[in-house]
Amino acid sequence: MQTLDQIVAAAHAAFATAIDADALEQAKARYLGKSGLITEQLKTLGALPPEEKKQRGAEVNQAKTTIETALASRRDELKRAALAARLAEEALDVTLPGRGQTPGGLHPVTRTLERIEELFRSIGFAVADGPEIETDFYNFTALNTPENHPARSMHDTFYLADDSGQPLEDILLRTHTSPIQARYMEAHVAATRHLPTMPEIRVIAPGRVYRVDSDATHSPMFHQVEGLWVGEEVSFADLKGVIADFLRRFFESEDLKVRFRPSFFPFTEPSAEIDVAFMHGALTGRWLEIAGCGMVHPNVLAHVGIDPERYTGFAFGMGPDRLTMLRYGINDLRLFFDGDLRFLRQFS
Ligand code: PHE
Repeated sequence: MQTLDQIVAAAHAAFATAIDADALEQAKARYLGKSGLITEQLKTLGALPPEEKKQRGAEVNQAKTTIETALASRRDELKRAALAARLAEEALDVTLPGRGQTPGGLHPVTRTLERIEELFRSIGFAVADGPEIETDFYNFTALNTPENHPARSMHDTFYLADDSGQPLEDILLRTHTSPIQARYMEAHVAATRHLPTMPEIRVIAPGRVYRVDSDATHSPMFHQVEGLWVGEEVSFADLKGVIADFLRRFFESEDLKVRFRPSFFPFTEPSAEIDVAFMHGALTGRWLEIAGCGMVHPNVLAHVGIDPERYTGFAFGMGPDRLTMLRYGINDLRLFFDGDLRFLRQFS
């Protein structure tokens, strides 16, 4: 018969050589299982006289604890080894180049914006930009927009709030790119003040704008391209010429249907809206408004320190999303913002 020490030593050896969890559980059964060697030892205790039973019982229990501890630590060891093996096997080299790379493409609206910039650059326009988070002052006040104008109401414009949720009435997401008119003219006046005659301003400013609006032809975020030409003797005829020429080049069509419809904007006088007729599919013949425009209001010029008696100018704000719809025959603006590759891939 084996001594307790021999049993403990044999258990240690058996655990150490168990190569996986299954083997370890089998080894455990041989020592701690129902008919395991330690269990057998415990069963013999009943037959011993009380004194000896106490002493022997303590020894057997001690041996049992030692074996259990050895078992637990080997279990841990095997578990860690299994994890390490799995990690090594599943290791990814994130620096490897991907397989089957497909070239990306530009979003159709980005294509339109690039095209607009290229066409206006070719006739001497600079390209500027401005902040999307704008002040009430530049978005409205500097643009001759009265205090009670509907665009200033909370439900038409996204205002911002402070950390506690308190609305900040002076800061908003710009509702149009027109604030860039005021910002650009101010900077231009400051930079050219020393000259006897103010050099002409000829600039476009593309960017995102925000309104509380959502349907097939309106989205809460959309794009605009602002245009501004200020100088001596800039007239409404120039505005019509520039826009008509731009549209013909943009759509590569000599017989494009364009109309100027009288309209109102606080910052232009006179004002007009520009419509282009849809030439695709079911929507053929439907007019789509693509821009607002007009002669810069004297108050707007005076506000930035330009003498309205000497200088005149025109401005327009057009919708590149709408231009993209017309150019490609897309009838739902929301397709631009869904990020559906089946749609987007058609343009790359
Ligand atoms: N800012 C106007 C709008 O968003 C468009 C516009 C721009 C009109 C410039 C006239 C001149 O509706």
